[in-house]
Amino acid sequence: MVLITGASSGIGETFARKLAARGFDLILVARRTEKLHSLAAELAPAVHAEVVTADLTTEEGLQATESAIRNCARLEMLVNNAGFGTMKRFWEADLHGQEQMHKLHVMAAMRLTHAALGLMVPRGGTGAVINVSSVAAFGQTEGNVSYCATKAWMNAFTQGLDMELHGIGSKVKVQALCPGFTMSEFHDTLGVDRNNIPGFLWMQADAVVEESLRGLERGEVIVIPGTIYKIGAALMRHLSHGIKRRIGKPGKDKRV
Ligand SMILES: NC(=O)c1ccc[n+]([C@@H]2O[C@H](COP(=O)([O-])OP(=O)(O)OC[C@H]3O[C@@H](n4cnc5c(N)ncnc54)[C@H](OP(=O)(O)O)[C@@H]3O)[C@@H](O)[C@H]2O)c1
Repeated sequence: MVLITGASSGIGETFARKLAARGFDLILVARRTEKLHSLAAELAPAVHAEVVTADLTTEEGLQATESAIRNCARLEMLVNNAGFGTMKRFWEADLHGQEQMHKLHVMAAMRLTHAALGLMVPRGGTGAVINVSSVAAFGQTEGNVSYCATKAWMNAFTQGLDMELHGIGSKVKVQALCPGFTMSEFHDTLGVDRNNIPGFLWMQADAVVEESLRGLERGEVIVIPGTIYKIGAALMRHLSHGIKRRIGKPGKDKRV
């Protein structure tokens, strides 16, 4: 059984389809309940997919999803994928949106991972948590401060967990998946015109999820799909903040 947040579109929906094809039963979590039910119906009867309708920025939504995890004795994987972007400089952006982003990318991922590892680790067998982060975790761009910061937290959180799991010899794996520009509803929700981003930078969600699942088999903790993004992230890791400041002006339509 695999629980996927943000399974109603894009990368989360693609995880659902690919994991269903590998024979996993699913728990699909998001706010748009009709989309989740139609996906569950489409995947049946080959796999059983439960639906949890939850806004993960709310205490109620978090508790419903934590309960779904705790009631699932055979949970094999958690995919913390739900997320969104915002526009504008930090102090000019609506505070509510910044708070919601931190609740979703940080607090929800932390709470659900705690519930999942609390089941998986004592069991003594295998298990996995995939945190869908971003290449934005490796740098900062103007107008994207909370997004870059929350995704950097996600990478640090995942690497820390890997250290602890490795330290006790656990077979449970963790991964931070760091995609670049990926075709999904992300940029529609953000109100960004995809034509303003060069075509060669776009990846299909299918390829992103395939790299994630292959990386998981190999035990890779940080997975960056696509050669161009692997090179970009490697460069970003070594650039000084002064240089990043000069190149961190993406214009209003560049969000990953
Ligand atoms: N697309 C990209 O270029 C890109 C690049 C790097 C990283 N990412 C990351 O990939 C992840 C998935 O995004 P995507 O590209 O697949 O975009 P997407 O198609 O917009 O999917 C986002 C998903 O998150 C769910 N979601 C948003 N707010 C939620 C909330 N409050 N509670 C529960 N679910 C919520 C949405 O479902 P409902 O609206 O039904 O709730 C939807 O299923 C995100 O974490 C994003 O940061 C995307």
